[in-house]
Amino acid sequence: MNLNDLKTKYGSCKKCINCKTDTKVFGCGNLTAKIAIVGEGPGKDEVAKLTPFVGAAGQLLDKILAAIDLKREDLFFTNSVLCRTDERNRTPVKSEIQNCRDRLFEELSIIKPRYTLLVGGTALNTVMTGGYKIMEAHGQWYTHLSPPCYFYYAIPHPSWILHSVTEKETQAKKRIMWNDIKKFKADMEVFDKAVSFDKRENK
Ligand code: URA
Repeated sequence: MNLNDLKTKYGSCKKCINCKTDTKVFGCGNLTAKIAIVGEGPGKDEVAKLTPFVGAAGQLLDKILAAIDLKREDLFFTNSVLCRTDERNRTPVKSEIQNCRDRLFEELSIIKPRYTLLVGGTALNTVMTGGYKIMEAHGQWYTHLSPPCYFYYAIPHPSWILHSVTEKETQAKKRIMWNDIKKFKADMEVFDKAVSFDKRENK
């Protein structure tokens, strides 16, 4: 299966109430990416451009990734859910996450990333099937022993920084994010040397 097959398979999905808008934002980016990025779901800008992470949170994420020398063109971006939840971008409910989870894993199976960055609690709970609080679970690795990806790493969502009320709060949150992303880079360098990634690799 390739991404076009996946779009055909899920393009007319109507499982959730949000599907009524019928604007699905599929993952896109570098098809041979070593690193995939999974967020929560598309907002207004993402729907307009049919591309994940292009609005304010996405632009801040670009800067966070640039701080560890990762460029957008090297990465694959997708989300826990394909459809925008509502005008306020409410967090997807469990059933919506469940309805879109197979699609997410099929998408990742096509890309076969070495590492997947889970951006925010929804992405973490989608992949690990629930139970995590992102402010306790960020800055740590998670594994699945089978494809689509062995190594997942969780960070807070950039919108958490954007919603700060004071400059002091913004700076404190940025420090947390910086520590997490620095660890992500350092650990990947160790894994790259230590782990023998098997035949599923297309890198
Ligand atoms: N936030 C997300 O989680 N995903 C997007 O695509 C955009 C903003």
